[in-house]
Amino acid sequence: MSTTSTAKDSALSKPAGIISISLGKKYFVAVSGAVMLLYVVGHLLGNLQIFIGQDQINTYAEWLHSLGPILWAVRGVLIILAILHIWFGIQLKLENVAARPIAYTHRNWVQASIASRTMIWSGLLIFAFIAYHLAQFTLHWTNESYNQLKDPLGRMDVYSMVIFGFKNYLISGFYILMMFLLAVHLSHGAESMFQSLGWNNDLWEPRLHKFAWILAVVLFLGYISIPISIMLGAIQLPPGVTL
Ligand code: HEM
Repeated sequence: MSTTSTAKDSALSKPAGIISISLGKKYFVAVSGAVMLLYVVGHLLGNLQIFIGQDQINTYAEWLHSLGPILWAVRGVLIILAILHIWFGIQLKLENVAARPIAYTHRNWVQASIASRTMIWSGLLIFAFIAYHLAQFTLHWTNESYNQLKDPLGRMDVYSMVIFGFKNYLISGFYILMMFLLAVHLSHGAESMFQSLGWNNDLWEPRLHKFAWILAVVLFLGYISIPISIMLGAIQLPPGVTL
């Protein structure tokens, strides 16, 4: 092969390589987002069992804990997915900005939704929230006396722990704000996930847009129903439970 043709080949293959790496990142962000979305749906279904009562949610938590290494593997995979999702998301955003020949005009800026413009910030804040959330409810670092909470069957009393957590208005307010950010992030994230996977076309685009919004609203209402019910006293501590 001549030197000229090698140089020509590399010049041609470079952009193709960059494009395929970008596509790979796009798919990764979409698929990792889908996996985390599944977790968020499943976690909500688990958490909503608090409305059935102490025995129900504690039985569920006991079952989760009985998974032992599997539970830690799931937690580990989720954390790695979240870190890579943010990392590639930021890279894609920077690549998009760099590839843009001229800055968006005022009209385009207004047209891009707030959700799409704030994806990086909402994503980073949600990550910070998850770190706090794990420290609070999984590791009990924010309140070590949670470790002493046991139900009448001697199991970890997740029911009372969540109530003690959300009886604090500041913590409940923080959660509600973060659930709102999560909903905003998901409303755009779910839609762009469909786009990255090539599932949207003229027929499906409006439907997927509507679906992404409904999903975000349902998740938001589902999650905030817990701190709100606790603050309103609709879910109460079992008699005699103190910290
Ligand atoms: C009202 C809202 C929420 C409540 C009451 C809640 C409750 C809990 C509880 C009790 C645990 C500890 C489970 C255990 O070890 O027994 C937990 C863990 C966890 N939560 Fe949440 N959660 C809420 C919202 C969220 C949201 C929105 C996310 C994700 C964006 C999330 C992600 C996680 C993760 C990744 C874990 C660690 C995995 C696990 O232990 O299952 N949570 N949550």
